[in-house]
Amino acid sequence: MIILGIESSCDETSAAICCEGKIINNVIATQTVHKRYGGVVPELASRAHQQNIVPVVSQALDNANVSINEITGISYTQGPGLLGALLVGSSFAKSVAFAMNVPLVPVHHLHAHILAHFIENPVPKFPFLCLTVSGGHTQIVKVSSYLEMEIMGQTKDDAVGEAFDKCAKMLGLPYPGGPMIDKLAKYGNSEAFTFSETDMPNLDYSFSGIKTSVLYFLRDQVKDNKDFISENLNDLCASIQKTLVKMLMNKFLVASKELGIDQLAIAGGVAANSELRNVLLNEINNGCEVYIPKFEYCTDNAAMIAMAGHLAFEAGFTGELHDSPKPRMPF
Ligand code: KG4
Ligand code: ZN
Repeated sequence: MIILGIESSCDETSAAICCEGKIINNVIATQTVHKRYGGVVPELASRAHQQNIVPVVSQALDNANVSINEITGISYTQGPGLLGALLVGSSFAKSVAFAMNVPLVPVHHLHAHILAHFIENPVPKFPFLCLTVSGGHTQIVKVSSYLEMEIMGQTKDDAVGEAFDKCAKMLGLPYPGGPMIDKLAKYGNSEAFTFSETDMPNLDYSFSGIKTSVLYFLRDQVKDNKDFISENLNDLCASIQKTLVKMLMNKFLVASKELGIDQLAIAGGVAANSELRNVLLNEINNGCEVYIPKFEYCTDNAAMIAMAGHLAFEAGFTGELHDSPKPRMPF
């Protein structure tokens, strides 16, 4: 089986080749056009996907030394994501599948983030708990098999990646702010400032409160000292990051205890955060087994789509040419 995976749900155009269950190539074109707008502009994302899709797929094939004629199946992100962005990847995948007469399979973007854990060893054992943390989602998922996943808790408002990005914007940092906060936090004191955390019932999260807490705090401080942000930037980043990671981990550990599952994994763009990775790794000392994907498989990539496609084909699933993209695809 040689699977071509295609990802285009947001602002990354990516293609990957999975050969007999092994990822042999993963090409990612990150769209830089959004930087000046402080967030992803959907129409610009679609246009950039249109420009990138052919070169990205060609490069993935070339690097893998695989000809398009050798592809035996195609997987693509069906949703959730931006409709225009999804349309580019799905139309391309369907056209190639039709032209080459190979089967294709639609993939759920968030299932794929979780299945990224099966790209490299060591792989988690079932059942495991996965904290999926991205720009659009924050979920605690019980994963019982490649195909059986259940949401045990999730955010009721903003996603944690959104909280990182919005706080970064208040600090005047460029988009996407999450990685910038991570970088600057390394030089700051995480105890310098305290922001109010919102505790939600059950295994759910809420991240809109901390955003407001940071906003009001900065507004008050800047009134007295207009250089407050620049003079305290690293401490602010470290304190915001510590609060967000603490909120994420507290609930995740409650879930682990309540469900009696000590196999813990993280996935999604925010799983690239070094503080979250360190705090989770600490749980090894408490008897948990911890799984953290490589950086390149945390943020959006087609390797995870190719891997999810491989597993779906193995389980006998295929899609249809008339399947349409689903911006709000149910889990
Ligand atoms: O999974 P992803 O690449 O795209 C979505 O499906 O949303 O996640 C993107 C999110 C953004 O909010 C970005 O700021 C955040 O992941 N992110 C980080 C880091 N790297 C990416 N947040 C905190 N620390 C990082 N190192
Ligand atoms: Zn994602």
